[in-house]
Amino acid sequence: MMNGRNGQSLIGIAHLIKENNIEVRTMDIKEVKEGKKQYLNLLLLADEQENMIDRYLTNGTMYVLEDDGVKAECVVLDVGGGVLEIKNIATDPQFHGKGYGRALIEFIIKKYKSDYSILQVGTGDSPSTIPFYEKCGFIRSHIIKNFFADNYDHPIYDGGVKLIDMIYLRKNI
Ligand SMILES: CC(C)(COP(=O)(O)OP(=O)(O)OC[C@H]1O[C@@H](n2cnc3c(N)ncnc32)[C@H](O)[C@@H]1OP(=O)(O)O)[C@@H](O)C(=O)NCCC(=O)NCCS
Repeated sequence: MMNGRNGQSLIGIAHLIKENNIEVRTMDIKEVKEGKKQYLNLLLLADEQENMIDRYLTNGTMYVLEDDGVKAECVVLDVGGGVLEIKNIATDPQFHGKGYGRALIEFIIKKYKSDYSILQVGTGDSPSTIPFYEKCGFIRSHIIKNFFADNYDHPIYDGGVKLIDMIYLRKNI
């Protein structure tokens, strides 16, 4: 694997997007091995308290999606029992709804399906995140009661909703 600038390793071209059946754009998804905090602005979109990000960033595996610049990132972590967890995923707000989040999920599934049986994610019960995961084929599995109230030092709001419980969604891969 080639090591590029900024501690990134080129994983390969993940997807081709056809637009109007004419233009074909390529996206690269790269693993970030060093300097993960250079993407803190994206990480904070998904998890707004930095010391909570610090809990998984060192041990987690981070990827960035580039399409004429970095547009999205995700961090995954082995949580045991054949389960891989998405700890953080975010797309630059200027580029929501363009398929970058789904492309990262599909990349993760393809890369890890031979080593894991379940991909899971924990999120607040928010209309800005749950529908995205459901569109990507995740289904609700379990809840950790009061996770946000117990672990964050201030109230967390997302999509106009105060987050209280952690909702887990899973997808067999
Ligand atoms: C959640 C997030 C990563 C989605 O990224 P994205 O690049 O905009 O998602 P995509 O464009 O790949 O969307 C995939 C599908 O989900 C749908 N979708 C995405 N967000 C949605 C929402 N809030 N409500 C309904 N559908 C949604 C899209 O319409 C698309 O559907 P389609 O494939 O049928 O057209 C992005 O909204 C984000 O960065 N949010 C802030 C950070 C965050 O909350 N991260 C999750 C923490 S748990």
